[in-house]
Amino acid sequence: MPAVVIVGAQWGDEGKGKATDLLGSRVDYVVKFNGGNNAGHTVVIEGEKYALHLLPSGILTPGCTPVIGNGVVVDLSVLFEEIDGLEARGIDTSRLKLSTNAHVIADYNRSLDKTTERFLGKRKIGTTGRGIGPTYADKMNRLGIRVQDLFDEKILHAKVEGALEQKNQILTKIYNRRAVGVDETVEELLSYVDRVRPYVTDTALLLHEALRRDETVLLEAGQATLLDVDHGTYPFVTSSSATSGGACTGSGIAPTEITRVIGIVKAYATRVGEGPFPTELFDEDGERLRVNGGEFGTTTGRPRRCGWYDAPVARYAARINGVTDFVLTKLDVLTGWDRIPVCVAYEVDGERVEEMPASQTDFHHAKPIYEYFPGWSEDISGARELSDLPANAQAYVRELDAISGSRISAIGVGPGREQTVVVHDLL
Ligand code: GDP
Ligand code: IMO
Ligand code: MG
Repeated sequence: MPAVVIVGAQWGDEGKGKATDLLGSRVDYVVKFNGGNNAGHTVVIEGEKYALHLLPSGILTPGCTPVIGNGVVVDLSVLFEEIDGLEARGIDTSRLKLSTNAHVIADYNRSLDKTTERFLGKRKIGTTGRGIGPTYADKMNRLGIRVQDLFDEKILHAKVEGALEQKNQILTKIYNRRAVGVDETVEELLSYVDRVRPYVTDTALLLHEALRRDETVLLEAGQATLLDVDHGTYPFVTSSSATSGGACTGSGIAPTEITRVIGIVKAYATRVGEGPFPTELFDEDGERLRVNGGEFGTTTGRPRRCGWYDAPVARYAARINGVTDFVLTKLDVLTGWDRIPVCVAYEVDGERVEEMPASQTDFHHAKPIYEYFPGWSEDISGARELSDLPANAQAYVRELDAISGSRISAIGVGPGREQTVVVHDLL
């Protein structure tokens, strides 16, 4: 009864979608357990590119059941846009399951996300503007709308009314915006009822029964460790639990069921939005990583901030998530540098610090201490075995393996499903 978790080990966009897709044919269920359509996963299959936001990457694998768990926040218009887009390309989406307990992103929360960011000005988080933060805030405030509420019009009406009593005060009195009508919101949500009904189920029970039958469940995180609301660089984080603990609360699978935790880590680092990023580059190297790695957001198209590999961050992710195996992605992007810097520790106010500082102020002050490794110039995109990699690339991987807190079990050498070097089997 294997339940395997995939998490991002840095600030997102590590290549979780590709890793999930790679394992897809060997798993029975792929579960998205946190976040919403703030995520953007690009998966390339036989040269065809798919950009997924809300749907689990397992949707692309015939025979695999994709599940949207209770920990996810669902924008219903995006859900059906994605379903229609995939169906038009011949992908069968009928197996999708959606938790009765997942929360729904109402239009007022999309507006509040964008308006709040504008009001924060210099202090903004740089959110994706999809209504994620306000919807999770409603969940915690016990003001949220859940998928099951769509099937009881009276309850739905009462809940929307309750939420809007507060929201309209904020929208009109603080943000000087128009009040949102209860009826129009209810009507919009109800317009999806018939389409959504066939997908809705008790997903926690479904997954529990699957595990009892010895089927394999893959739990796929959106975002990443450093964007986790508890363990990330708060307040520059998303509003959900993107670490392996979140896989349990966001799916209803118990911690004792988790057999493996796979951390996805890029061979360098990127970040979108605001917040600290010690190895960030502002020079030609940063630009070269951005261009070579195609580092532009799948969701918002924003250029991603780029920097060198940060080993304390990887060790932190290994520790917080209990990573058993790392997948090191995008090694091919580093081809062509004479030497490659790796951050092995930080200098914080004159002191050498080996691990992620516990204080956010210290992390803001952290300066990377680099070690330098010789680069390679050979094209590695065709490598399928460790021995296919040039000696210096192998040495770079060995070094990261030694200092990242868990073993590196697979290496990405290109965006294609098959462009992977497997060192240890992942399932
Ligand atoms: P996710 O959000 O973690 O799923 O990652 P994204 O899809 O947002 O970003 C990762 C990008 O890198 C995508 O465009 C992938 O197609 C691409 N990618 C994944 N693995 C590799 C790799 O090993 N090499 C290269 N060159 N691209 C990769
Ligand atoms: P995937 O799953 C990278 C970032 C946003 C912003 C912060 C909060 O593709 O790795 P939010 O809209 O969630 O309230 O924004 O989190 N962010 C991501 N960055 N990859 C993602 O997802 C992200 N999802 C959110 O840029 O800084
Ligand atoms: Mg992404």
